[in-house]
Amino acid sequence: MPTVNTWDTRYSSDEFYYGTEPNDFLKTNAGLIPPAGEVLCLAEGEGRNAVFLAGLGLKVTAVDGSSVGLNKMEKLAKMKHLSVASIISDLNDYQIEPEKWDGIISIWCHLPKEMRKKVHRTIVAGLRPGGVLILESYHPRQLEFKTGGPSDPSFMMTLQDLHEELAGLEFLVAHEIEREIQEGKGHSGMSVVTQVICKKLE
Ligand SMILES: C[S@@+](CC[C@H](N)C(=O)[O-])C[C@H]1O[C@@H](n2cnc3c(N)ncnc32)[C@H](O)[C@@H]1O
Repeated sequence: MPTVNTWDTRYSSDEFYYGTEPNDFLKTNAGLIPPAGEVLCLAEGEGRNAVFLAGLGLKVTAVDGSSVGLNKMEKLAKMKHLSVASIISDLNDYQIEPEKWDGIISIWCHLPKEMRKKVHRTIVAGLRPGGVLILESYHPRQLEFKTGGPSDPSFMMTLQDLHEELAGLEFLVAHEIEREIQEGKGHSGMSVVTQVICKKLE
């Protein structure tokens, strides 16, 4: 995975690296988030997903290590007359507040494995009862496809990883699938992904 400074460089042109449209899996499933709820978007980058969710009337906070990405998110939100709270932080340091969030979004949040495990434990604690996690990541087999994602397979996730790391949540959707992805110049082509939607029991 590139370092956070690498992300600043990657986001430094006017173009949106992953486009301005939300991720397909999120777009299809965002209706599962409790209406008007508080949503935390992890590793939100230039904000396409956060801005989409704000447009649905959700109260959205986005966290990312890249100030350049989050500045672009604020501009995108402003253009659409929407507002998203932004927090510039390394996810290793950011504390997800327990029982605070009606929705947590993790789209292509590829972290070193030990950090990811820690973040996933705090996601389980951070959801309110009835809250949902929507997560899509590349699967380690994505390395064979070379259409986007990290070069280190340990940053990617299998369903087995997620069942272990998100124990305590109910899995509503759990897929390892091949699908076509077109998201700006960052992700383009047939890919192997892991998708989950999890709910915290009420
Ligand atoms: C592949 S991009 C995905 C951006 C966004 N979720 C999307 O779908 O458009 C990965 C993001 O993770 C962020 N990131 C990577 N490691 C991070 C860390 N340790 N702490 C905070 N953000 C991190 C990067 O800055 C980058 O914006």
